[in-house]
Amino acid sequence: MKQKLQSVRGMNDILPGEALRWEWLEALVAKCLCGYGYLPVQTPIVEPTPLFSRAIGAVTDIVEKEMYSFSDALNGEPLTLRPEGTAGCVRAVIQHGLANQHTLRLYYMGAMFRHERPQKGRYRQFHQIGAEAFGFPGPDVDAEQILLLARLWQELDLSLTLNINSLGQPEERARHRQDLIAYLEKYETSLDEDARRRLYSNPLRIFDSKNPTTQAICADAPELPAYLGKESHAHFAGVTRILNDEGVSFTVNPRMVRGLDYYNLTVFEWLTNDLGAQGTVAAGGRYDGLVEQLGGKPTPACGFAIGMERLLELILQNDAAGNGAPDIYVVHQGEGTGERTTRLAFQAAEQLRDTGYRVILHCGGGSFKSQMKKADASGATCAILIGEDEASAASVLVKPLRDKEREQELVRLADLAYFLSTHFA
Ligand code: HAM
Repeated sequence: MKQKLQSVRGMNDILPGEALRWEWLEALVAKCLCGYGYLPVQTPIVEPTPLFSRAIGAVTDIVEKEMYSFSDALNGEPLTLRPEGTAGCVRAVIQHGLANQHTLRLYYMGAMFRHERPQKGRYRQFHQIGAEAFGFPGPDVDAEQILLLARLWQELDLSLTLNINSLGQPEERARHRQDLIAYLEKYETSLDEDARRRLYSNPLRIFDSKNPTTQAICADAPELPAYLGKESHAHFAGVTRILNDEGVSFTVNPRMVRGLDYYNLTVFEWLTNDLGAQGTVAAGGRYDGLVEQLGGKPTPACGFAIGMERLLELILQNDAAGNGAPDIYVVHQGEGTGERTTRLAFQAAEQLRDTGYRVILHCGGGSFKSQMKKADASGATCAILIGEDEASAASVLVKPLRDKEREQELVRLADLAYFLSTHFA
């Protein structure tokens, strides 16, 4: 028997109903980003492997074990499917000199690839919408990005919690790292295997350990904020001041570490408890050294990425909009070939689409009853019914589908858009 062909584990199809929801969400996020002056950019899915090892860090989990890397069949060049979008975006900015004279706000959306163990909310092909701002050294742009996300959650009617931290500057982190290693070395034999492995390569990540003994050891370990200098503290205070002014609540989590090495100063994560273990919906921070590190002119930068699958799952759980349902379903049936009623139905549907409604015009005939079943199943807010009587009066019957208490009403075609905007806004 032939083996059934399946998609690769952790890489999912997005089927029509769902794909509609994706498009809706992408458009909504893009609108929000444009409202803050971000412009779209697209970069390749495949990049030279050294880009990621240099940007993300050679001893991170992503680079050590999660990249889909291969050699170009012709010239042997080491290539990798992008595991995130920042590195490629920075490469493009340097390559085209985009940030040389100007400040720059860019956003992108697309598939990323990480060879992780798939589970709910964690996939091998997943999608991010990311934003990166270049050329802004102050705390204002860090805060602005957090505010942008807060506005997005508000629009989506989601409540997420914000954790922020300052990672200071590389020299400050180096001093902390030295003391942290010295502290952890005292307990080396009691640390779990993973923590021992990370002791010299990435000791900050040991704070992430779920092992109770390691956690207990970490409880008294030196914390980074004590090592930050005046300027780092001032930058962080600048960010928190704006967040406080704008009424965005946050928790300062001095143990927050990110899985990518390029960050300095502000880092942040937006979290939910409603998605199980994979609760980080969006995350980012400042990365002032990266442009120079990848060969560009020194350029401060700050950005974030939203995990699309996680955000969509949260929206679905929250039963927010974006389920792809139309606003209106037009039902029509007339005598004979139904010419009069069909013409009116087309007229009504087109007129409503002109004013921005999403309309499904019933096609294929059938009784009023069977058409109404389809209207109900479509998820539309209301149905518009057109029979011979309505056609004679150049009117339609507006029937609410969700609010069953509400009466149906006869509305003249000429008044229809206005009626709907006042009764079903
Ligand atoms: P990240 O924290 O690695 O940061 O990923 C950002 C978001 O992508 C996560 O919070 C999560 O929602 C989603 N995500 C990550 N891995 C997976 C996965 N395997 N399955 C599903 N969703 C996932 C970055 O990638 C940085 N480039 C963000 C950034 C932009 N920092 C500055 N600029």
